[in-house]
Amino acid sequence: MNEEKRATFGGRISAVLVAAGSAVGLGNIWRFPYLAGENGGGAFLVIYLAAVLLIGLPLMISEFSLGTATRHNAVGAFRALNKRWAVVGYMGILSSALILSFYLVVAGWTAEYMVHSVTSDLVRNTDPASHVAAFEQFVGHPWKPVIYALLFSLATHLIIVLGVQKGIERASKVMMPVLLLVLVVLAVNSMLMPGGMEGLKFFLNPDFSKVTAETILLAVGQAFFSLSIGLGTMITYASYFKQGTSVQGTALQVTLLDTFVAVMAGLVIFPAVFSAGIEPGSGPSLVFITLPSIFSTLPMSGFWSTIFFLLLVLAALTSTISLHESVTAYVEEEWKMSRQKAARLTTLLTGLLAVMASLSLGIWKEYTICGLTFFDSLDYLTANILLPLGAFLTCLFVGWKFDRTLFAQQLYPNGIMGREYPILRFMIRYICPIILFVIFADNLGLI
Ligand code: TRP
Repeated sequence: MNEEKRATFGGRISAVLVAAGSAVGLGNIWRFPYLAGENGGGAFLVIYLAAVLLIGLPLMISEFSLGTATRHNAVGAFRALNKRWAVVGYMGILSSALILSFYLVVAGWTAEYMVHSVTSDLVRNTDPASHVAAFEQFVGHPWKPVIYALLFSLATHLIIVLGVQKGIERASKVMMPVLLLVLVVLAVNSMLMPGGMEGLKFFLNPDFSKVTAETILLAVGQAFFSLSIGLGTMITYASYFKQGTSVQGTALQVTLLDTFVAVMAGLVIFPAVFSAGIEPGSGPSLVFITLPSIFSTLPMSGFWSTIFFLLLVLAALTSTISLHESVTAYVEEEWKMSRQKAARLTTLLTGLLAVMASLSLGIWKEYTICGLTFFDSLDYLTANILLPLGAFLTCLFVGWKFDRTLFAQQLYPNGIMGREYPILRFMIRYICPIILFVIFADNLGLI
């Protein structure tokens, strides 16, 4: 597409904000704590941090550079550079649609919790068992969660058709600082809860005895999921960066911000989990049980839970927007459709899958694929297979196929190479693909 005609974000700060808006979401606040809770707490955190630094950051820089070099969607970017590799882009678009489908369901839960916070009936009870019961009742309800998921899909759709700049940028700018502040306040509050220190120990003291090959795959998959990398979302977003936006500076800031939010979420959740006697391995329901328990003990409980779930809704919304945008940008550019039509098609398809994913936790519970519900299979397939695979191929491409000069130009537009360049290149060419390959091979039982 013509560069002049293509929409751009407003500059450095906006680039960080919108990319962080995509990265920061339910992955940090819902998925990370429940995986850490199921997989040994501190040990999971350490492996996660290593994955973010060693693989996540170089990959985000790689994806950004593909976006700024080509100014295309994920498929268009790969195709413009090397036709055969367009398949990586296609895989990314497919994964984006699949992630969006189950993400909308969880986002719907946060919207429902926000509504129940406003009426204060979420936090009326201090007994954790009542929160477990309330969660199960809601998720298994025949139509309520479906309605909320569809409302979320509609909200995403509306922002997408209002356009790149106006919609995405504004939404991200307001929310991020408030979210950080509220998380810090809540983390301090949780640590002061009686018995909270036990939880802190669980989260910060690594016990590697429970770590298996699968734990490592889960941590790496979660790192990609949380950073929004591995399926080209960041390629699409970087294609909107203004000329001169620093690729590695933006990637570093987004990575730090995203990781900070995940760690803070852990600091909010785990002390409270231990204080209230909740099972840390409760799975996807963990935060939905723990958060109401925290709020119910606070003065002005309704106020705190309303603010928090509102922020969570907004954080989820900036992420659903990015997932939707990847698919829409592809349909619009590659199928030569109007933006309106492309968005409508994306919304219809993912909305339908979201309905199925939601029902698979309720009235369609008996229908499973390899023992997993449709919801769980979407989550597993994307985070543990498609994302690491997409990341692996993206590394290979940027390290070995992408023109070296073009890559360097994206990182150093003024021609002066930074000292980190050789290390970064070595990571992308060797370290990242080798680690990813070994993890895959190990999980498939090949080594
Ligand atoms: N990173 C988001 C989160 O943590 C989810 C997300 C948005 C995503 N876009 C993505 C995950 C692209 C993978 C790929 O909630």
